[in-house]
Amino acid sequence: MPITIKSAREIELMAEAGRILEIVHEELAKVLRPGMSTLDIDRLGEEVIRSYGCTPSFLNYNGYPASICVSVNEEVVHGIPDGKRILKEGDIVSLDAGVIYKGYHSDAARTYGIGEISREAADLIRVTRESFFEGIKYAKEGNHLFDISAAIGRYAQERGYGVVRDLCGHGIGTNLHEAPEIPNCEMNRKGVKLKAGMTLAVEPMINAGGWEVDWLDDQWTVVTRDRSLSAHYENTILITEDEPKLLTLTGSGPMRTAENKN
Ligand code: MF3
Ligand code: CO
Repeated sequence: MPITIKSAREIELMAEAGRILEIVHEELAKVLRPGMSTLDIDRLGEEVIRSYGCTPSFLNYNGYPASICVSVNEEVVHGIPDGKRILKEGDIVSLDAGVIYKGYHSDAARTYGIGEISREAADLIRVTRESFFEGIKYAKEGNHLFDISAAIGRYAQERGYGVVRDLCGHGIGTNLHEAPEIPNCEMNRKGVKLKAGMTLAVEPMINAGGWEVDWLDDQWTVVTRDRSLSAHYENTILITEDEPKLLTLTGSGPMRTAENKN
């Protein structure tokens, strides 16, 4: 599948899909607290998505049974919401969500601490987010795709973290997953040349320990092999001739304060 270049109209639809997803994440961030179940998060997320006339991208995607992927502690991604899985103080939780607006997808993930978390956990969440911003310094027309990958991987590895290699970011548009695949580590090729109008979901998944992961018997939940903590941070971005546009992080939402820059 070739990489699609979005028209001005398509970009406007993707931007709206992104703004709505930003609101979904803001609503979820507000309610996170010890004692709630991961299914509570999924229920609220789906409700907010539908309240904007959107469809959850993930629900029934390849058989995935929920709207929000909720991954706790050593779970990397694709955790399945469960009414019996109760969040407790000190946990970290990654929320990955996608919406379809008028046929166009947006995709974004955040990792949060529940109540007070360890220094180690907070550092992991911060470095994961920072690695995304390090990567997208290279997300500009004329650069190569794997410039982004290498920058993300280098940033996390230099700080002693394990960079997940089995899962990648991806192009996005009328499909949740489009070409190209976007690794989070250095490659021995340059990758395709970036062009204005490409829309990409860049999503580092970073482990406190080793990079290796396993799949649980539910066929979905990805966990760190050494059961160390893992964090995830993702935005849908638009390549331009200049700085990339962060479609799922516009800074216009109500929760944009200096301390809460998720
Ligand atoms: N952000 C995730 C990804 O890009 C989407 C979850 S996959 C699903 O892979 F199957 F759960 F939808
Ligand atoms: Co994604």
